[in-house]
Amino acid sequence: MKANKVWFLASLIFVVLLGLSAYQLTKDPWKVPVEYKSKKNPVENTKQSISYGKEIYEMSCSSCHGKTGKGDGVKAKNLDIELYDLTSADFHSKFTDGEIYYQSFIGRYRWHDFRSTVKDEEDRWNVVNYVRSLKK
Ligand code: HEC
Repeated sequence: MKANKVWFLASLIFVVLLGLSAYQLTKDPWKVPVEYKSKKNPVENTKQSISYGKEIYEMSCSSCHGKTGKGDGVKAKNLDIELYDLTSADFHSKFTDGEIYYQSFIGRYRWHDFRSTVKDEEDRWNVVNYVRSLKK
């Protein structure tokens, strides 16, 4: 019985700590591994690339990030996580293409791993080029 109590308390503490760390994660600075940060965008930022990227963005991303990238998609309200405004100059100067690739397709939460949604490497960079084009 005593051992059970200890386990109960231990798991309670664990759950509380987990909750706290998740809370802090709401907008930790992005720490993108250097191999992504310094990755060179292999796809030229052309009108064609942007329009391919736009198609994917509207299908898979705009529900949260919003049609224009302002983070006002219908699902954004339920996330409790602050989103960058993808149209702001601040966002674009802060991150390299490689970082945007990482944020978009690998992310730091399992649910933001879109590698299986967008399998083609070139398509992923088309989306990065589209995100770049959202800058006001
Ligand atoms: C279910 C909602 C949802 C969908 C769908 C979604 N995202 Fe996100 N995205 C988020 C959230 C929430 C964050 C912030 C995560 C964080 O701070 O760790 C984020 C972060 C980002 C970031 C970094 C900027 C920031 O606000 O931290 C980029 C870039 C991004 N997403 C691009 C994409 C792209 C491209 C797609 C489509 C392939 C996509 N996202 C689909 C919810 C979503």
